Parts: sequence; C-alpha cells; structure tokens
Amino acid sequence: MKFPTVRPRRLRTNKIIRDAVAETALDPSDFIYPIFVKEGPGREAIPTMPGQHRWPVGEELIKHVEEALALGVNKFILFGVVPEEQKDPHGSRGYDPEGPVPKALRLLKETFGDKILLFADVCLCEYTDHGHCGVVKTTGGRWHIDNDETIKLYAKEALVYADAGADFVAPSGMMDGQVAEIRKALDAHGFHHVGIMAYSAKYASAFYGPFRTAAASAPKFGDRRTYQMDPRNAHEALKEVAMDLEEGADIVMVKPALAYLDVIRLVKQHYPWAPLAAYNVSGEYAMVKAAAAAGYIDERVVTLEILTAIKRAGADLILTYHAPEAAKWLKDGT
Ligand code: PBG
Ligand code: ZN
Repeated sequence: MKFPTVRPRRLRTNKIIRDAVAETALDPSDFIYPIFVKEGPGREAIPTMPGQHRWPVGEELIKHVEEALALGVNKFILFGVVPEEQKDPHGSRGYDPEGPVPKALRLLKETFGDKILLFADVCLCEYTDHGHCGVVKTTGGRWHIDNDETIKLYAKEALVYADAGADFVAPSGMMDGQVAEIRKALDAHGFHHVGIMAYSAKYASAFYGPFRTAAASAPKFGDRRTYQMDPRNAHEALKEVAMDLEEGADIVMVKPALAYLDVIRLVKQHYPWAPLAAYNVSGEYAMVKAAAAAGYIDERVVTLEILTAIKRAGADLILTYHAPEAAKWLKDGT
C-alpha cells in the first residue's frame, strides 16, 4: 500500500468517520465494579484508593449500587473486610453465613433481583490471621500452603456465597484444582446455575498493594510467589487457563491488566470462545488517581484510554474501580 494513493489520514478526518471505523468500543456493560463490604455501621474511605470506600451492609451500600446501576454498571464483585480480632488461621469468617459478603449478597439480591449480576471473590486472605490465601503448615521450621486442604475451604466458602445469592463465585487464591473442587461442591448441592469466574492467570504482583491495605489482607510473613504466577511468564498463562476451562470455569481472567496486555491478547487468541475478564487492579487505579491529583495527567482521558486498551487487547469484561466514573464519562460523550 503506497502513498499518495493510500492516505490513512482520510479515515481520521472527523469524529464521524473515526467513530465509523473504530475497532474497539468501550461500554459500561463491559465493567464489573469491585466493592468492599464491612462489618458495622458507617462507610470508611480507603486512603490508598482515593474515591473507594469500605461499605457497611445497609442503606449506604444500596444507594451506592443504585447510583452505579443508573449509569449502566450492573455487575459487581464483592470483597469482605473483617476486623483483625475476627481472623483465625483457617479464615473461618470467610465461610460464615453471617459474614459481610453473604449478608451483602442477600441484601443486594433482595433489593435489586435480576437487575444486577453479583460476583463473590472466593479467597481466605481477608480472613486469615497470617494473611495468606490458604492454610499454612510448618514442617521442619519452614512454612508452606497446604493446597488440597485450602481448596476444600474455598468450596465451603463458595457454597455459602452461592446460597446467599451469588450469580458467580470467583476463586482468586491460585491453588491448583480450586475450580474443579468448587464446581464439584456447587453441583453436589444443587447450585448448577451458579457460575465460576476463575482468576486463572493471576500474577504475583506489587500492583495489589493498595487493595491489601484496603482489605487488610497482606501476608504477615513471606509473599505469595509460591501460588501466584511469576511475572516473567506469559505462555504459562495458557496452561492455567486450559486447566481452569477443563475444570469447568465459565469465565477466565488475567490479572493485573495493564502490565499484562500481552497475556490478555495471548489468552484471547488461543481461546476465542472463552469469555475473558481482565482485572484493572488497585495499583493501576491508584497510580491514575495520584498522577491526576498532582495535575500530571488528564484523568478522564487517561482512564478511558487505559480501559479501551484492555478491551482492545482482548478482554470481554473489565474489573475496574473506575467503573461508575468511566460509565459517566462514556455517557457524557467526548
Ligand atoms: C485476594 C485478592 C487480591 C486481589 C483480588 N483478590 C489481593 C491479593 O492477591 O493479594 C487484588 C485486587 C486489586 O489489587 O485490586 N486473593
Ligand atoms: Zn487471597
């Protein structure tokens, strides 16, 4: 293709032609909005994530969801936050039917019914006193995470969330066989209709920092590198995704999103038929907020550019804390 016969700029002349030939369209229906729910009254601002709060299970939460819904955001994923004194080695508050997440699921389902889709994150790090995503065992003075014991607890947790009204459960602990164990438990208890969104390729990332402060879920010793993926690996994501799909995952996920756009693209190309989610994580959100507050970037344009890039890379769904704001910006137009 040669200049001057071919002039790419002809397709950039004005907004109408640019819109007509655009390859990617971002829409509020792409978003899943993560929400932190807590015990007790009163919402708490999360200092590491400007604009985000820990919500009490009650009127304030309902209002927040209602506002998002009015903007076209109708999918939510819930994370539970409990006080330190309620935590124990096995994270039992995670599978307590009276915990903040099951309570919120019941309230929101009661209030909004089929107008919203509710996802529940399934992990133990928000509920364990040591902060790891599974059961810690010590042998010969060295600790490890007991994989097979942990996935039994995930299954228990998933059942509690399914019973409370979750449309999808979302195991995020990166234990081997977690999807199969959860699918088996759900099916054995009549929850065939409850789906699984698997955090399939979840990397051991420092971009989770602000979230761990928000949910008080940072490990008290060591790190998560024995279970979460090594950031140096892209093709290994295909192995994780293949296993999760075989184990019965309905939706697979790559996480984080922005520094892993190549992985999103790779997974989409190999499994075009599998719905793919990408998690625009807390650190990605916090960087945008901080740079915008400092006046270094145009927050609206940068946010929409990032979300568009994640979609362009191949994500069908985007978990993002920007969801309500981005939906509003999309509505207002450019
Ligand atoms: C829990 C979980 C984490 C995130 C989602 N689920 C934190 C972690 O793995 O430490 C991170 C989300 C974010 O950073 O926005 N397993
Ligand atoms: Zn975890």
